[in-house]
Amino acid sequence: MSNYDSIDFFTDQSLVPDPHPYFDYLRSQNPVLRLPHYGVVAVTGYAEATEVYKDPETFSNIVALGGPFPPLPFQPEGDDIGPLIDQHRSSFPMNEHMVTMDPPDHTKARSVLSRLLTPSRLKHNEEFMWSLADRQLDEFLGTGECEFIAEYSKPFATLVIADLLGVPEEDHKEFRSVLGADRPGARVGALDHESVGINPLEWLDDKFCSYIEDRRSNPREDVLTSLATAKYPDGSTPEVIEISRSATFLFAAGQETTAKLLSAALQVIGDRPDIQQELRDDRSLIPGFIEESLRMDSPVKSDCRLTRRATTIGGVDVAPGTVVMILPGAANRDPRRFENPHEFDIRRKNVREHMAFARGVHSCPGGPLARVEGRVSIERILDRMPHIEINEAHHGPAAERRYNYEPTYILRGLSQLHLNFTTADSVAAVG
Ligand code: HEM
Repeated sequence: MSNYDSIDFFTDQSLVPDPHPYFDYLRSQNPVLRLPHYGVVAVTGYAEATEVYKDPETFSNIVALGGPFPPLPFQPEGDDIGPLIDQHRSSFPMNEHMVTMDPPDHTKARSVLSRLLTPSRLKHNEEFMWSLADRQLDEFLGTGECEFIAEYSKPFATLVIADLLGVPEEDHKEFRSVLGADRPGARVGALDHESVGINPLEWLDDKFCSYIEDRRSNPREDVLTSLATAKYPDGSTPEVIEISRSATFLFAAGQETTAKLLSAALQVIGDRPDIQQELRDDRSLIPGFIEESLRMDSPVKSDCRLTRRATTIGGVDVAPGTVVMILPGAANRDPRRFENPHEFDIRRKNVREHMAFARGVHSCPGGPLARVEGRVSIERILDRMPHIEINEAHHGPAAERRYNYEPTYILRGLSQLHLNFTTADSVAAVG
């Protein structure tokens, strides 16, 4: 029996640095496999993950964030536990956020986002990103080194969302500070307020409630007014707190994930001089490079569903009340879908088929934004840093790199990424 047959995926830290040998092992047993802990069924196959994502009638999102923790607040009984889920919905963690909702409530909550993610709004947001990228780089460029996550990717991802939501620029500094965007290790998650003495999501809710109330009584020509006056598809007016939650959840969903994408991409740029050179020689490779970074190091490591009624996935019987855990990073390295799945290939033909942004009704509405954040950042970083390498004092020499990853089963990403670089100015001075 392999150690992998008994290991606890949720707590065993040995799986954190590189979970892929374990994911491959699970898939080799069965792409849909019951794990030895908490009765969870793990989905590592691409086709099987798609099947689950596309069937919200059978799989509820109520456990999307909590997974098997805490245990269900009821005893599953009968062939259909849908009514029990609805009855106990308020006992599940984070039930007020759209990611844990099911249709039709989910459809309503998500409709508010359509005011924000319009082509013209995204265009304005991109303009903001170009200048933000430069401002962010200006903060540390002169030193020739940085800890990329605290100094660039987190504050950048946070302020892009603040701008998207129309937070006035004079408040940006406060957002950056409260959301821990420049403190290593801080996270806009439900539990992280212990370290900062303030719950960032509650702080955000209060902040946005006051913005929305203000804009309802004093409408202006701004994004917050357009949010404040949004209606549900049936014509009814959302409560202030409902709008506020749809807005604030963007920070929880979009800050850490995007910061992880950016650091994964910069890690490859630092570790693979050949790829760095190809990107410098042909900038049109950047979008494919970002997709391949998402496929290889998918920031959402696990994404859970609760089975409402008896069903089968990929031929495996699954009982009502079972927590089904999709592992997008594993599906993205399923050899039945991606050739040489463990190889980083910036010219991979079917790379956009990856499911780092999930599939189905909950698929990430921030995907287009994250892609632009990646493109803008990499363009400006390559422009302003003619040579980038991994800082060996922190991460060791090329053959023996040491990287620390966030010790969580939910997300996949580096804790820190130290880089050394030259700057366009220093090269000009030498020349
Ligand atoms: C690389 C960056 C990102 C990744 C990998 C990512 C990944 C995901 C995934 C896998 C889901 C599906 C969760 C589920 O099915 O249970 C999701 C949902 C979501 N994401 Fe993202 N995300 C990223 C960036 C963003 C950004 C920048 C925003 C917003 C500004 C955002 C907002 C959301 C929201 C609101 C949801 C919930 C959607 C719903 O429940 O209908 N994400 N994301």
